[in-house]
Amino acid sequence: MKRLAISVSALLFTMVGVAAADDPIVVRQSLMQAAAASAATSAGMMKGEIEYNPTVAKAAIATLYGVSQAYGDYFPEGTQEGDSDASPRIWEDMEGFQQAIADFQTDTAAAVQAAGEDGPADLAAFQQAIQPVLSNCKDCHEDFRIQDN
Ligand code: HEC
Repeated sequence: MKRLAISVSALLFTMVGVAAADDPIVVRQSLMQAAAASAATSAGMMKGEIEYNPTVAKAAIATLYGVSQAYGDYFPEGTQEGDSDASPRIWEDMEGFQQAIADFQTDTAAAVQAAGEDGPADLAAFQQAIQPVLSNCKDCHEDFRIQDN
């Protein structure tokens, strides 16, 4: 029974792609990679590179919603050091950072609402739902992520 529990939790961690689940930096970076994958799928559909599919659209929205709910929990004091692009501003202005998370949560929740049971009916509906969500990426990165350039 114990072995079963261990393998089930190992499976769950594999599913979210978390290699070292006890390292908050690794967790927050894998959450961002999940967000990036959903954003790329969304952009592909909006550009017509991927045929619009309401189920895929709904999955992308659901992933972004999940990321927005979890993300704020992985910035404990002390994790500004290490292999991270998180800006020190996060810890200098934790209230501002939590507000950015709250905005991301509000916009993803609205998109979940708009997607309904079957996903947004067409590309125009999807676009309307997802665009406010995607604007959070740039907004938060500008303020709270160390840019590579
Ligand atoms: C509330 C703030 C916030 C929002 C919203 C946000 N990000 Fe991020 N993102 C960050 C921070 C902070 C980092 C750096 C994390 C680290 O390296 O510890 C990051 C890192 C990343 C990375 C690099 C991950 C890695 O492997 O190191 C990608 C890719 C990314 N974000 C994509 C996105 C996309 C796409 C969205 C929108 C759907 C988004 N982010 C929304 C704050 C945010």
